[in-house]
Amino acid sequence: MSEIRIRPGTSGDREFVEHLGKRTLVDSVAAWRHSSPPMLDIAFERLLTFVYDQPHHFLIAELDGKRAGFVLTIHSLPDEVTLAPQAFIAYMSVEPDMRRAGVAAELLKHTERAARDLAMPYIALMVTEENEAARNLYESAGFITERRLLCKIL
Ligand SMILES: CC(C)(COP(=O)(O)OP(=O)(O)OC[C@H]1O[C@@H](n2cnc3c(N)ncnc32)[C@H](O)[C@@H]1OP(=O)(O)O)[C@@H](O)C(=O)NCCC(=O)NCCS
Repeated sequence: MSEIRIRPGTSGDREFVEHLGKRTLVDSVAAWRHSSPPMLDIAFERLLTFVYDQPHHFLIAELDGKRAGFVLTIHSLPDEVTLAPQAFIAYMSVEPDMRRAGVAAELLKHTERAARDLAMPYIALMVTEENEAARNLYESAGFITERRLLCKIL
């Protein structure tokens, strides 16, 4: 049976995160929204710069000793309506050939534990409607839909 190990991410893991994130960000783009690979790369670099500048939690998952995925969580982004503190998952990704092995579920478990240790009352994130894998993952972990981000094509 495959062994999943979760450990803190280090600066030596940043290149892995950047490569994997850039390869998978397209899964968060709705089919009807125009996007281009160069813009997605820039968007992911912007996201990483933003996250690394904030108090954040960075975890790496290894599957049988090989890096399989990561999660980046920000701890300084309160709920915009109530200003209640929350852990906000900025991005999580798992290598395509290592999926459905429980890696993301394990990353999520550790992320939740770290947020509880910091006495965060909530954990939140945004997910694209069409991203069925991510929606199922979070729903099966007990997340509920709180708000909807609406968009209209002009
Ligand atoms: C979403 C993602 C992180 C899931 O990673 P994973 O390691 O394959 O997920 P797990 O194996 O831990 O799956 C846990 C549960 O999530 C759900 N799930 C995961 N992938 C799924 C898929 N492709 N289809 C339907 N449900 C899925 C299932 O309920 C699964 O439990 P099960 O395998 O017992 O049925 C991965 O598909 C990914 O990296 N996608 C691209 C990046 C992304 O969309 N990130 C989310 C934005 S924050």
